Amino acid sequence: MAETLGFCEELRPEGCGFVLFGATGDLAARKVLPALFGLCEKGIAPRNFYVVLSGRTPLDRPALEARLAAALGRSGVPPRPAAFAAFLERVEYLRADYDSPAFYAGLAAKLEALDAKFGVRRRRLFYLATPPAAFEPVSARLREAGLLFDPKDCTCWSRLIIEKPYGSSLETAVSLASSLGRAVPEAQVYRIDHFTGKETVQNVLALRSANPVFDGTWNRAFVDHVQITVLEELGLEGREAFFEHMGLARDMMSHILQLAAITAMDLPASFHDADFKTEKKRFFDSLRLPAPADVPAMAVRGQYASYSGQPGVAPGSAAETFLAFRFFVDNDRWRDVPFYVRAGKKTGAKATRIAVVYKKPAAGVFGAMDIGYPNVFSFGIQPEERVDFTLIGKHPGPRLCFARREMGLDYRPVPGEAAKYPTDYERLLLEAMAGDRTLFLSYDEIRRMWEFLSPLLDSWREKPAACPLRTYPDGTPGPAEAAELLRRDGRDWV
Ligand SMILES: NC(=O)c1ccc[n+]([C@@H]2O[C@H](COP(=O)([O-])OP(=O)(O)OC[C@H]3O[C@@H](n4cnc5c(N)ncnc54)[C@H](OP(=O)(O)O)[C@@H]3O)[C@@H](O)[C@H]2O)c1
Repeated sequence: MAETLGFCEELRPEGCGFVLFGATGDLAARKVLPALFGLCEKGIAPRNFYVVLSGRTPLDRPALEARLAAALGRSGVPPRPAAFAAFLERVEYLRADYDSPAFYAGLAAKLEALDAKFGVRRRRLFYLATPPAAFEPVSARLREAGLLFDPKDCTCWSRLIIEKPYGSSLETAVSLASSLGRAVPEAQVYRIDHFTGKETVQNVLALRSANPVFDGTWNRAFVDHVQITVLEELGLEGREAFFEHMGLARDMMSHILQLAAITAMDLPASFHDADFKTEKKRFFDSLRLPAPADVPAMAVRGQYASYSGQPGVAPGSAAETFLAFRFFVDNDRWRDVPFYVRAGKKTGAKATRIAVVYKKPAAGVFGAMDIGYPNVFSFGIQPEERVDFTLIGKHPGPRLCFARREMGLDYRPVPGEAAKYPTDYERLLLEAMAGDRTLFLSYDEIRRMWEFLSPLLDSWREKPAACPLRTYPDGTPGPAEAAELLRRDGRDWV
């Protein structure tokens, strides 16, 4: 087993109540409910802790328990009966009427009663797993009902957790932020991007921080370019109608830029929220925004062949299921180093990976020899959880002959250990309970993401012929033009 160093203690947050709106939906069933249960089962949820599940669907106690059992069963290993029974003791269901002040008054009374029962001091998280259109009215009603405490006023607190999409354009993102801002201060808004909760993503910064050999060369003097790959084997599988209004760029840009930020940001002075956010913001501020005229040359959009014709897809749909693009980070560390991104659905294999590709040697014994890129530092995020480093070494034998070699580090937890560690959603819920916003997205990041994305979306809408939607065969890694994007620069996807 690996020797552990540093801050290895898992801190158990102080007691709180967790209110889940939209508890009957897909996100709740697949992610939030299993994470709440997992935290309790692993013994890292607060000691004083309760959960209020809320939805418009009427559910009596047996129906609620059956739903919970089904959701937990689908999420992996069926829960152990004793752990499930203990979890149920902490859970209540409240039927919601999100437009009615009476509902919020009833909720307030229930929370007071549950605070008293579980020994919680008015510390509450409200997770809005509802359609985004409900964020504004629900947060406003919570405020009116006096359920969103200002932490300056008392030792109690309330936090709002929401999921992407954070708007569908720059204008709607700004509008959503200002309406949330009227309900709660920014410091109480927790915006989830579940990529940031992944061990493998956090490991990128851990490796960079702890190993000077890497970060010392993590700059334009040594690095030729960076590649970010987020490919999915599956297509939309019944979610086409939702995707028609979204497209891959809107759906994935937050994940892509979070991976870029963790790779390219300067190391923070500490891992505390404020230092981390300061450096992350500096990265986002350094992102070069595309000029509309540059879009055709910097981005390729595609759609897999079988997408059109699926139920819910408009004839001649322009929804992209694939995107490749190049961007630059205008700071001293990365100036003129290209970052290439490809992300897509139904591409034949699932692979989320970051590759830092080092420059070729300019001269010396290799001057005349084409050895390709000698060093590639590659982080497998999912499904492979590994770190690989490519080196050129001597091939065994009598002649001076060189061969490519891989050094690999399997980052999967030791079998048996995995069940003890928080999953990505468990980690994020735990951090929200602890009041640590390090892994959550700030409004600055969201706004900058839309400023980056808007020129692409505008160009595709206003000048579709200049940046055509390319069809790619199902099961292939995107249209040929995505390979061409790198080839024009004398590079290939690694
Ligand atoms: N599913 C995912 O994997 C995923 C991933 C990333 C982000 N998200 C985001 O997470 C949120 C929930 O997504 P979801 O996939 O779980 O959606 P969903 O399956 O449609 O569930 C949403 C839930 O909200 C409730 N609801 C529906 N309309 C409502 C309204 N007008 N006001 C209040 N509640 C309403 C419904 O329950 P009741 O009718 O019982 O109230 C429903 O169960 C969305 O903002 C989505 O964009 C989801």
